[in-house]
Amino acid sequence: MTSSTSVYAKLSVDLGERSYPIVIGRHLLESADFAPYIPGSRVAIVTNTTVAPLYLERLTDMLQAAGKQCIPVILPDGEEEKNIANLMRIFDVLLEHKCDRKITLLALGGGVIGDMTGFAAATYMRGVPFVQVPTTLLAQVDSSVGGKTAINHPLGKNMVGAFYQPQAVLADTSTLSTLPQRELSAGMAEVIKHGAIIDAEFFRWQEANIDKLMARDDAALAYAIQRSCEIKADVVRQDEREGGLRAILNFGHTFGHAIEAGLGYGEWLHGEAVGCGMVMAADLSTRLGYLAPEDKDRIIALVKAAGLPVVAPDLGEDRWLELMEVDKKNEGGQIKFILLKPLGQALISSVPSDLLKATLAACVKA
Ligand code: NAD
Ligand code: GLY
Repeated sequence: MTSSTSVYAKLSVDLGERSYPIVIGRHLLESADFAPYIPGSRVAIVTNTTVAPLYLERLTDMLQAAGKQCIPVILPDGEEEKNIANLMRIFDVLLEHKCDRKITLLALGGGVIGDMTGFAAATYMRGVPFVQVPTTLLAQVDSSVGGKTAINHPLGKNMVGAFYQPQAVLADTSTLSTLPQRELSAGMAEVIKHGAIIDAEFFRWQEANIDKLMARDDAALAYAIQRSCEIKADVVRQDEREGGLRAILNFGHTFGHAIEAGLGYGEWLHGEAVGCGMVMAADLSTRLGYLAPEDKDRIIALVKAAGLPVVAPDLGEDRWLELMEVDKKNEGGQIKFILLKPLGQALISSVPSDLLKATLAACVKA
């Protein structure tokens, strides 16, 4: 371990023989101590044109020093690039290099790279080893853990994919130093979500530490990542394929997906839409008598302090309802919402339409 490297936490996602570690620390990419987490002697590092100039060389140097051969796959950046054409580009490089089933695919980047690389690993030669090296806060607290992989289809986000768990997640907090502030805020939405649905004490900790988090205090970020990963790993352990419980991780997402689709993908970041969506879900929970009004106000305040929007775009009631009806949690003709009852606990339920309409009217007001 180099003198600047430090490990803050090592967790496990317990899934029997498919269990895997999550290591959270500083400067992990520079220390050969972490090479053993990456199986095999050949590693295809999938990254993008933004992350490659920042972190590809140091990761490649570390892996080569540990005796591994590295094959870079550098894709264009952007959510719109999470598509079949770029999936094929990954396969093209693997086949050109005659990679066999012993190749390890390593995702170096945010959730877009992680989701796409995971799907490539799930399908290349019917499945090859996969390691996540997430470099956004959102990926470190959420998307790198739990095995959901996907690409987008022109008719819908994440519509083609697989459940495929990585063999390890290495979250290097020092990579967050280069993350744009807007992306940091987007990641905070998922951190807030984890506190709101499962752990009221973690929510309180975030209220007390939001200034440190937004100022990128490394110890504060490391704790937020650790607690988020613990919470997500526990949910995934209980319900890997979203038969029931895992759906609570979609708190704020029914409203959020409607915002993303209604404004056009890319207008608001996913985390921004989820932040506002959590405010709306909290409002609905309060109208149902599940959540105390003062706890709804705490959610609004924390989302706002994380630099996220708390006022919803005015899409018009009909369009809002139409967009939410196509959400994937719309089962048996009724939209299912993730609600808080109370702060720190979630439940999944349909809601009376008059209360939903009241929430829409209240939340689009400035
Ligand atoms: P992203 O991958 O697009 O990354 C955001 C931006 O930050 C990109 O421009 C990226 O190149 C850049 N970037 C990444 N690391 C950086 C760094 N260290 N320094 C500077 N810039 C950096 O977006 P995201 O928010 O990480 O992920 C969103 C994606 O994750 C969506 O496609 C969403 O569907 C998916 N997602 C998946 C899951 C899951 O469980 N699989 C969960 C949540 C979200
Ligand atoms: N981000 C939701 C999930 O992993 O289930």
